[in-house]
Amino acid sequence: MKLNHRPRRLRQSPFIRDLVRETEISLSKICLPLFVTDGKNIEKSNKNIPSLMTFSLDRLLKYVESAKKEGIKFVLLFGVTEKRNAKASEAFNPNSPLMKAISEIRSKFPEMIVGTDIALDPYTDHGHDGLCKIKSSGDYEILNDETVEALSKMSLMHAKAGAQIVSPSDMMDGRVLGIREALDEENFQKTIILSYTAKYASCLYGPFRDTLGANLIGDKKTYQMDPANRKEALRELKLDLCEGADIVMVKPASWYLDVIADFKRESSVPVAAYHVSGEAALIELGAKAKLFDRDRAILESSTAIFRAGADILVTYFAKDLARILKRH
Ligand code: PBG
Repeated sequence: MKLNHRPRRLRQSPFIRDLVRETEISLSKICLPLFVTDGKNIEKSNKNIPSLMTFSLDRLLKYVESAKKEGIKFVLLFGVTEKRNAKASEAFNPNSPLMKAISEIRSKFPEMIVGTDIALDPYTDHGHDGLCKIKSSGDYEILNDETVEALSKMSLMHAKAGAQIVSPSDMMDGRVLGIREALDEENFQKTIILSYTAKYASCLYGPFRDTLGANLIGDKKTYQMDPANRKEALRELKLDLCEGADIVMVKPASWYLDVIADFKRESSVPVAAYHVSGEAALIELGAKAKLFDRDRAILESSTAIFRAGADILVTYFAKDLARILKRH
């Protein structure tokens, strides 16, 4: 048979396939989320996702050391606490385990990039990301501008403790601008804002909320985006770029590859994607049921997110990827 085009020619051996592979994952583009809580000698895993881990400060430092040895270069820190109230006061406690974690990781592991999630949901009794007013109907109304002010204060505290990246995940209007102004006013021009630009009101945050011990009253649909909307993400992108975001993020990742591809095309700054807890749980449970191989699922889903256009991937499978990539 005379055939001019035989695409299989480029698939004939592992070496040829390596040569023509379009998407390669590098550990320098991977971020590991970690949770830090009160107390001592605490190290616990989410019940469905072993690598979604909560630590007391002493244990966290050991884990960061092991992650660093394995090639992880960027950690994203979240606070977990039972000290919740309407004002989210624990978010502003200068001696919280999170605040100590930021400065201790920075001083013990200077080459590790430390980012922090900026939102109030670990600290509010109602579990919302912002400050709320309770309406006469009993519903919670999120106070946008008051929340931006609180998040700006929180970002500045984290920057002062040493965080190089602050990452607002709350979806309030104008928070990137508010945070940038607060940082610049105190000469933190170098602090990077990684904004959760298109964060959807997804069902996939369930395991994360279990880990936080959040008892969310109502839902987050008045601030997180409707999963049905694609154009609206471009509007959020434009606004975040105008307000000065340094990195923009799409979240969740694998059900939102179209949005990641749009960002890749339209964004003048790097694009991150967050492979969230529910996405990780689907892989863990599927692998446990022997529906597919766990490592292959981790590699394929991560590769798909990069292929769609992400420059940076936030994933609970960071350590798994380090191990898998070493083998490949
Ligand atoms: C909240 C926040 C959430 C996640 C990161 N920051 C959850 C939410 O919006 O309720 C989700 C991460 C995950 O599911 O892994 N500010």
